[in-house]
Amino acid sequence: MKAVTWQGRRKIEVATVPDPQLVDPTDAVIEVTTTGLCGSDLHLYEVLGPFLDAGDILGHEPMGVVAEVGSEVRELKAGDRVVVPFNVSCGTCFMCERGLHSQCETTQVREHGSGASLFGYTKLYGQVPGGQAEYLRVPFADTLPIRVPEGPPDERFVYLSDVLPTAWQAVVYADVPPGGSVAVLGLGPIGDMCTRVAAHRGAGRVIGIDLVPERLARAAGHGVQVFDLSEYGDQLVDAVRGATGGRGPDAVIDAVGMEAHGGSAVKALQTATGLLPDAMASALMKKAGVDRLGALELAIELVRRGGTISLAGVYGGAADPLPLLTMFDKQIQLRMGQANVRRWVDDLMPLVTDGDPLGVEGFATHHLSLDDAPRAYADFQKKRDSMVKVLFHP
Ligand SMILES: NC(=O)c1ccc[n+]([C@@H]2O[C@H](COP(=O)([O-])OP(=O)(O)OC[C@H]3O[C@@H](n4cnc5c(N)ncnc54)[C@H](O)[C@@H]3O)[C@@H](O)[C@H]2O)c1
Ligand SMILES: [Zn+2]
Ligand SMILES: [Zn+2]
Repeated sequence: MKAVTWQGRRKIEVATVPDPQLVDPTDAVIEVTTTGLCGSDLHLYEVLGPFLDAGDILGHEPMGVVAEVGSEVRELKAGDRVVVPFNVSCGTCFMCERGLHSQCETTQVREHGSGASLFGYTKLYGQVPGGQAEYLRVPFADTLPIRVPEGPPDERFVYLSDVLPTAWQAVVYADVPPGGSVAVLGLGPIGDMCTRVAAHRGAGRVIGIDLVPERLARAAGHGVQVFDLSEYGDQLVDAVRGATGGRGPDAVIDAVGMEAHGGSAVKALQTATGLLPDAMASALMKKAGVDRLGALELAIELVRRGGTISLAGVYGGAADPLPLLTMFDKQIQLRMGQANVRRWVDDLMPLVTDGDPLGVEGFATHHLSLDDAPRAYADFQKKRDSMVKVLFHP
């Protein structure tokens, strides 16, 4: 089959690889019909390189049709239409039963001290072959895939794999009071969807901050009050306070993560790790940390005293100091984590089956074939061609 593979830093190749096979009797193999490109893939493209091997299959936002199921699978059969969550979660362990699927104890990668395995996401997360491919092996076929109805197009459902539950969890964790204010940092696919979910769940004022003109315009187009970071610079915090009664927003969602613009000296370290042998580089990255905390620091400054910060953006390293003095003094509530995809399905399903209140149809800016992946990764990273969300159709 054809698959999108990582071959080195900023080197993506579409390769022909062996088709995935059923391994356990509880597995399914699905034929992928639509599969997303995510901001999280950009971390693999660039900074997380030391944790990948050449040939690793990328992607964690797939949906498709069941091609084959193992002998013990009861709930799923060939021909069923399914979306696959990005966490590989068993659905039955202590953590899964508590809705913490990103901590699944059956698939935790203990060797690296990591939570649940993820599709297409480095050795830290189990080096599981990903979903930017024609076929995908899916374990826990009775409990992991999300069955969706026939009829509406794939783009109605595909975001159940990541974008929707991630945005939903980020907004739930942000704990915006009814009618209250929330600022979303970053208006990529995740931040954009956070603004929609926040408005849908009753936030009174939704603010969006980014520095890419098309992304700001897109959010403004659905009622978000936008601030261009590159325009306001040092005045941004004052401007946002001005829009929120002088105090700052009740909640701030960081939907940027470690690709933040305006990073610090660690950027040099990051570049250096790209030049080191993998073993050295991965040790250095895990211990010394490569976080670029620009967005998180901004979130801490922006949020009103006693407010909540919800971190959806993914951060890497471990050693960057946080402004703990200010965090404590402001009595900030900080919540974070990979989305527990499976947990939010019951909340989200009505929003993609009874009409389309969040506007998932038309959310993607680019529909491409797998062969276009190398160019799509490059354009998405550079935010060229007004690209916000790419869906590949294998
Ligand atoms: N928690 C989860 O489960 C989960 C799931 C999916 C994605 N993510 C993470 O969410 C983040 C966003 O994903 P995405 O797909 O939207 O990616 P993206 O890279 O397209 O979006 C990031 C946006 O942030 C903007 N930005 C950069 N620096 C900024 C700053 N200092 N202030 C404000 N905006 C800034 C960029 O211009 C860009 O539009 C990534 O870190 C990704 O890894 C987390
Ligand atoms: Zn994703
Ligand atoms: Zn589990």
